[in-house]
Amino acid sequence: MPLLKIAKLGNPVLRQVAKPVDLNELADPESELQAFIDDMIETMYHEGGVGLAAPQVNQSIQIVVLEYSENKRYPGETSIPLTVLVNPVLSDYSKETKDGWESCLSLVDFRGLVPRSTTITLNAYDRHGGKIQKTVSGFEAVVLQHEIDHLQGFVFLDRMKDFTKLSYQEEFDKFWVKKEDNSFLE
Ligand code: NI
Repeated sequence: MPLLKIAKLGNPVLRQVAKPVDLNELADPESELQAFIDDMIETMYHEGGVGLAAPQVNQSIQIVVLEYSENKRYPGETSIPLTVLVNPVLSDYSKETKDGWESCLSLVDFRGLVPRSTTITLNAYDRHGGKIQKTVSGFEAVVLQHEIDHLQGFVFLDRMKDFTKLSYQEEFDKFWVKKEDNSFLE
């Protein structure tokens, strides 16, 4: 399975609203869409990401993949099983927010402190067209907000409130990592 090329900030595909996936096409196990989802998963693993949205690999369609086990960029977070989301929609954003240090495969070397709702509701389809509805909190809620933002043409910079908390990774490691606070996120 081929690895997909990552679109970097400045590529207009990252700023487009992605199109919904045709669920009839998704239902065909031989469809290009299913092969594309496999390629997205391989690419996420290869790049060491916690999540990947289709626009980040130059396809302006509403698909997101995520998985988190041990990742040295995000130590100590709760595991997320491999998840494929098609046409995902978030709602019921909690008023309560928490700041976390995010990064993005499309912004390569940057880290930024981003406030995110601590709890959200997810409605989506899985890769076989099965309906998903659940309330999500913690690290998974943050990853979902980050990835689903990509489908609406947003990147984490757009959600930052304080650009003095934007850092290159090397300087983040040097000046911002606090061992007692592992809340840095994708
Ligand atoms: Ni991202």
